[in-house]
Amino acid sequence: MYVPPRVVTNEMLARIMETSDEWIVQRTGIKERRFLSEPGTGSLGLAVPAAEAALEDAGLTPAGIDFVIFATMTPDLYFPGNGGMLASRLGMKHTHALDIRMQCAGFLSGLHVADAYIRSGIYQRILLVGSEAHSGLMPWPKNVWDAMWGDTQEPCDPAWFQRITSLRDRAVLFGDGAGAVVLEANDSGDGRGFTGFFMRTDGAHWDKLHVPGVGCRFFPYVSQEMIDRGDALPIVEGRQVFRLAVHLMPEAVLAVLAECGKTIDDLKLLLMHQANLRINEGVQKALHLPGEKVFNNIQKYGNTTAATLPMAFHEARTERGLKEGDLIVFTALGAGLHWGAGALVL
Ligand code: ACO
Repeated sequence: MYVPPRVVTNEMLARIMETSDEWIVQRTGIKERRFLSEPGTGSLGLAVPAAEAALEDAGLTPAGIDFVIFATMTPDLYFPGNGGMLASRLGMKHTHALDIRMQCAGFLSGLHVADAYIRSGIYQRILLVGSEAHSGLMPWPKNVWDAMWGDTQEPCDPAWFQRITSLRDRAVLFGDGAGAVVLEANDSGDGRGFTGFFMRTDGAHWDKLHVPGVGCRFFPYVSQEMIDRGDALPIVEGRQVFRLAVHLMPEAVLAVLAECGKTIDDLKLLLMHQANLRINEGVQKALHLPGEKVFNNIQKYGNTTAATLPMAFHEARTERGLKEGDLIVFTALGAGLHWGAGALVL
């Protein structure tokens, strides 16, 4: 995994909008997140060191990879997607690349697709990346970085303070980061690998999490009026998403365990998407899971959308001493709505 070095604490956010550490921790569990502080890096730039670390961990060079999958909801450009550009940045000349835009479920869908490609025999080794540069989504005031990190701590322009405060339910949730894995064919018959997926989509809930403007159903697809109206900013119907997540993720976890003939007792660790610590506590409670069977790192990173699961996997591998043969389940729910679970024997 890779995260940018700039730490943004809740106290820092409270300097630029009407919020508090107490509110954010109580409602979301988030203490801090990482932000890119200048343009230029983007989710592609964050993905490069994460991908390099995954390749090194796998003992591979870029030449060993047949296929690249890149999941993000914050691509560098409207098009082309990040996948091809990542392959090029890594010096890959013979790979094919696929871009996934399934928001918080993007990495889970990437695992599903990668598993299917490997099972079909089309590819042997796949690099899957989830990376997000959310910090650019909010209309931060010009002096925001000085206000948060500068020695002077000059207060923000009052008009901007009001504007950001009106977006505070979204502005405090997200952070930047990237995570990557390499998936490889395993024909040894030792039972290791993905043993099942349960994947669902309900497009009727598209409006619970969406960006209303900037799209090709408009002529032109982006205009100054849209920007002025705030149509380029994400809409989050937080309460409804919260309720759906607490209900649908446990259902997916139980379904995938049943599909591979396992129960909650067989589970070593549940790796959940990290949108809100209270959601994850609800999922944990619904599944009657003890603390040692769940892992949360939202406290340090906020919601990093498609980067969340690989970042959590990376940290859990060492912090929880995961070992070969352990059964872990990944679960996520995100804008779309897309949700599901995947079971992996390490
Ligand atoms: N600081 C202080 N007060 C705040 C903040 C803030 N950052 N944000 C909202 N409030 C205020 C509101 O203005 C409101 O005040 P009011 O009662 O005077 O009107 C009050 O707090 C309650 O606001 P709610 O939005 O109802 O708060 P809620 O408890 O639902 O928490 C939250 C909001 C954190 C967004 C929660 O609903 C949640 O986490 N939902 C799911 C998260 C989610 O949807 N994530 C997106 C997935 S990402 C993806 O797929 C792309």
